[in-house]
Amino acid sequence: MTGSEDLRAAPSPEPLGPEHVVSVATMTTDPTTDPTPDASNGVERRRWNDRRWTAIWVHRERFTSSVTEHLLAHLAPAAGERILDVGSGGGLATAAIAESVGPTGVAVGADVSVPLCELAYERAQQAGVPNASFVVADAQHDEIAGAPFDAAASQFGVMFFDDPRQAFANIRRHVAPGGRLAFVCWQSKEANPWFVGDALAPFVAPPPPALGKRPTGPFSLADPGETTQILAGAGWTDIERHPYEVVVTAERDAIADRDQLVVQGVGPEELDAAWNALQAAIAPLARPDGRYDAPLAFQVFTARA
Ligand SMILES: C[S@@+](CC[C@H](N)C(=O)[O-])C[C@H]1O[C@@H](n2cnc3c(N)ncnc32)[C@H](O)[C@@H]1O
Repeated sequence: MTGSEDLRAAPSPEPLGPEHVVSVATMTTDPTTDPTPDASNGVERRRWNDRRWTAIWVHRERFTSSVTEHLLAHLAPAAGERILDVGSGGGLATAAIAESVGPTGVAVGADVSVPLCELAYERAQQAGVPNASFVVADAQHDEIAGAPFDAAASQFGVMFFDDPRQAFANIRRHVAPGGRLAFVCWQSKEANPWFVGDALAPFVAPPPPALGKRPTGPFSLADPGETTQILAGAGWTDIERHPYEVVVTAERDAIADRDQLVVQGVGPEELDAAWNALQAAIAPLARPDGRYDAPLAFQVFTARA
């Protein structure tokens, strides 16, 4: 999408039918490959399309699913509404949104990951939620079928844009004037001791951002002032932030597992050392029953289009 087209003035289309389920939006590039190393969102696009990573990701959902009730409380979906879920992943929040808008409403999950859209679709079918559909799309650029939406939502799906202002402007173009935005992102790394990235840093350096692009990752929207500025710069108004802290009890693989070391690029000779470092990092969270108590510090941002 060029950025000049205003989708918000478009007449409301018919509800999405089965032909829209797991469709590929008008993507500017192939979601799974990226011939130019500095192409937009190339690093994240590759990561989230790596089936080894998405297999690990489903264990991490125990964290993300624990915040859905807070997202829904701020999103306040009403019966019959059309809602876009950005970075919908395995689709559990999209399905919850679809159920909350009822059979006359629609929830469209948009995600850059082909394997996660496939998983989300299968789950929605199995759970009997026909009004949840999923499209493969880069929310920073692409036009997502079904606009204008009454609201856009996201549960930890908006921290991976290498140009967040452009991305939030593109999301806003999909929402009707005066429509709502509600998304969850993490507070600071320091407030989230379950994060093991620093323990792994000596073994595998995080990929550098593309030239002239912003670093992406779980804490990229942690700074409230900066995120407010990004949203305002993208045209959103009435911006509010609501911080939360909860403790989630989960199995170890909700936080870390050995498979992730290989996927993240730790060499075979360093696997044991990296695994020990990772286990040491999460040891303070261990419970006597073998599970872990992870404090999650997150925030919900809300705004109007
Ligand atoms: C942390 S996961 C959250 C998934 C899901 N919302 C949940 O709560 O479990 C982040 C998701 O954002 C998606 N994502 C990353 N960059 C994206 C982009 N540019 N456009 C759309 N989705 C993106 C990833 O593929 C991934 O599914």
